[in-house]
Amino acid sequence: MSDTTISGAPALTDEAARLDAADELRAKRDAFALDDAVYLDGNSLGALPRGVPARLADVITREWGSLRIRSWEESGWWTAPERIGDRVGHLVGAAPGQVVVGDSTSVNVFKAVVGAVRIAQARGAHRDQILVDEATFPTDGYIAESAARMTGCTLRPVAAADVPTAVGPRTAVALVNHADYRTGRLHDLPGTTAAVHAAGALVVWDLCHSAGALPVGLDAHGVDLAVGCTYKYLNGGPGSPAYLYVAHEHQPRFDSPLPGWNSHADPFGMEPAYAPADGAVRGRVGTPDILSMLALEAALEVWDDVAIEAVRAKSLALTDFFLRCVGTYVPAGRVASITPVEHERRGSQVALRCADAGAVMAELVRRGVVGDFRNPDVLRFGFTPLYTGFADVERAARVLAEVLADGPADGRAGEPSESGVAG
Ligand SMILES: Cc1ncc(COP(=O)(O)O)c(C=O)c1O
Repeated sequence: MSDTTISGAPALTDEAARLDAADELRAKRDAFALDDAVYLDGNSLGALPRGVPARLADVITREWGSLRIRSWEESGWWTAPERIGDRVGHLVGAAPGQVVVGDSTSVNVFKAVVGAVRIAQARGAHRDQILVDEATFPTDGYIAESAARMTGCTLRPVAAADVPTAVGPRTAVALVNHADYRTGRLHDLPGTTAAVHAAGALVVWDLCHSAGALPVGLDAHGVDLAVGCTYKYLNGGPGSPAYLYVAHEHQPRFDSPLPGWNSHADPFGMEPAYAPADGAVRGRVGTPDILSMLALEAALEVWDDVAIEAVRAKSLALTDFFLRCVGTYVPAGRVASITPVEHERRGSQVALRCADAGAVMAELVRRGVVGDFRNPDVLRFGFTPLYTGFADVERAARVLAEVLADGPADGRAGEPSESGVAG
């Protein structure tokens, strides 16, 4: 099926060209290794920034290959978690000294939730409940449940939007996702944080689906602790290290449940007794994964001259345009968006419910439009403003309409499987 057979296509193709021509971030696309595919899966794994391979080759051949152990000092390996943490912090509105990079998001959820419960309980009042966003990415829920058992708390799942009314005098901590991984819904970080504080509790935000896509404002909104991954909108690479934010005011009381030697006040003193370091370092555990960490550092260079507000403006324009194109091209009733229409409630992805979603996504990928599928019936399309253009958006919607018009083909219907590793 060609584009001229789809009603509205020429007008939207022209509009996409005009929007691309006016796009102030357009040149950033050249900083990424991309091909002819429309890549709308940056909400799972961001594309490769072109500067990374050469930097990683230098880390391997010179810093590791020649300098060897000297690089812990001379190449700045030892201090990389805090140095890169400050770069990530800049993108999520945290002043230097509050973010440390390392471990996975799952591990950082554990540190943050247990650490936050300990702070809340040390304040004196009897607090024995952890609230968790009931639609959370599963790992947060699993870990919150374990954290609750370890700290003598009960776990109470509630809708993220209901946290402000569910929080009470027994709440120690609320663990909430800033943007929902399935629907793309953006939750009210300032309002929820204020409500949790008014009840005397702490809040831990999971920023996996918002960092690098929109302004977060951790310091401005008084967030207590936050975690997030770096392989989605921050383009750090597969399994790149996650981060932990502990606000300055909580750092002296942050009692990590994983007090490894890297967070010791004197790590090379080899003391038998643990004494925590001051500051963000307290969030470290063991030896950092230097290769992944320095790949992330190189990946973050693309942000040097980018304002996150411009990224947010383009993200909303991209998702608005995608919803319009889908509305124009796809016959009514064939897909239903579960992503909020209101800008203040939308992250940087669009999720469409669709019959045969697994088979439909497999065919989209085959035709060069890469999104992903989430059980049971959701097509997810992530929009990374640094490298996604409006022509990509128009083409994705058009190919979706073509796939749906052509119907399931032999060999692509059948058992859907979730594509992509991380959500
Ligand atoms: C919202 C959210 N939280 C946590 C995770 C888990 O991250 P990790 O596998 O790095 O522990 C993901 C993974 O995609 C996620 O989307």
